[in-house]
Amino acid sequence: MKNLEELFEHQLKDLYSAEKQLTEALPTMASKANDDKLKGAFESHLEETKNHKTRLEDICKELDIDPEGETCKAMQGLVKEAESFIEEAEDDDVMDAGLIAEAQRVEHYEISGYGTAVRYAKELGHSDIAKKLQETLDEEYVADEKLDKLAEGRLNKEAMS
Ligand SMILES: [Fe+2]
Repeated sequence: MKNLEELFEHQLKDLYSAEKQLTEALPTMASKANDDKLKGAFESHLEETKNHKTRLEDICKELDIDPEGETCKAMQGLVKEAESFIEEAEDDDVMDAGLIAEAQRVEHYEISGYGTAVRYAKELGHSDIAKKLQETLDEEYVADEKLDKLAEGRLNKEAMS
């Protein structure tokens, strides 16, 4: 990578791989969630994630780059970690709590990735692309907040019982 443009392209491909892996992992996470709200949160974020993937395809088309060819190893690790957690969870409540934790790690990773991508896009003068990436970033923030509320809800429920 010789310049910021190339670094930006690399980041986009990395995010694309991350979103792709997440569209494959979220259905499992939804199927394992016991709480209906948590299940719903995973299902709706799956739809958003598909949208994020399409948005990146559009951006790459605009920049005349191929989104394929990169594997986001960080997301691979996060997904692997979630899968092994699912195998180890032996209680419904533990499952839900752990799924929230795994999903928030994923969201925080995406938030930092998109935050960087928005900054690079602005710096490189791609203002329309920056706007599109910002839309995704905003949705990742909302998804994370939703998980925060679900985690708090679990705590409250536990305190009541
Ligand atoms: Fe996303």
